[in-house]
Amino acid sequence: MKTFNIIAAIDEKFGIGKDGKMPWYIPSDLKYFKYITKKITDKSKMNAIIMGRNTWNSISSKYKPLVDRINIIVTNSDQDFFGAHTEINLISALELAYSFNNLEDIFVIGGGKIYEEALNLSNLASEWILNKLYITRVNGDFGCDVLFPRELIQPNKCKFIESLPEKIENNFLFKITTYEHMSNKKIMYQEHEYLSLLKRIMLHGKSKSNRTGIKVLSKFGERLNFNLRGGVFLY
Ligand SMILES: NC(=O)c1ccc[n+]([C@@H]2O[C@H](COP(=O)([O-])OP(=O)(O)OC[C@H]3O[C@@H](n4cnc5c(N)ncnc54)[C@H](OP(=O)(O)O)[C@@H]3O)[C@@H](O)[C@H]2O)c1
Repeated sequence: MKTFNIIAAIDEKFGIGKDGKMPWYIPSDLKYFKYITKKITDKSKMNAIIMGRNTWNSISSKYKPLVDRINIIVTNSDQDFFGAHTEINLISALELAYSFNNLEDIFVIGGGKIYEEALNLSNLASEWILNKLYITRVNGDFGCDVLFPRELIQPNKCKFIESLPEKIENNFLFKITTYEHMSNKKIMYQEHEYLSLLKRIMLHGKSKSNRTGIKVLSKFGERLNFNLRGGVFLY
């Protein structure tokens, strides 16, 4: 499965940016962003982050490119963005990320235009599946001029996974929450995994009699993983 994740900080009105910047400064949320986007299980690998050109521009040049991550900018410009790769739309950026041999995971990090594209992609019958959304909810209305598409975290499409305790920093009250996006394709994928295991058992399972003499087919070493915390079977 080709999957990607989204990470964003949003206010009560789904605002994410104002005048080309984020309207809040929450150091521990920035730390969390760094932690999530850099986190890898295989040390020889790296995550990719995909962003729109305005988001790239909003990052201070002393932090660019964001280290230990493959930086990909979506832009129509043929300008050279030092230390970053460029692509002309989200799908080609995802494909570029996927083409790296050392890729572990992909994060779409904004801004508004790119999140909109991610929403469109999650509604399409695309081979790309939106997996997790890491959403920091900042209390208040900051009069933002760029918004996060609220359809991306509609309760019928997203399962709550976990949240960290609410915190106040620099007078901003915020809460970090993780959701799992439940695209139809993913649900079908899980069902497909289950059905194909049944098929493998029917075709290749070993027949043994159980205690009551009934013949049972079994196959050793098979495993299916489902995240029950998100209530995956409750549709
Ligand atoms: N709160 C958060 O978590 C968060 C996260 C990220 C950003 N932000 C904020 O969001 C704001 C930026 O968002 P934004 O919507 O203005 O811009 P953006 O999504 O970062 O970038 C938009 C630009 O990306 C390029 N682009 C996007 N889609 C494209 C496509 N399909 N084809 C070709 N190029 C495409 C275009 O650049 P070219 O003109 O170069 O073609 C477009 O002008 C800032 O205020 C930033 O601080 C907030």
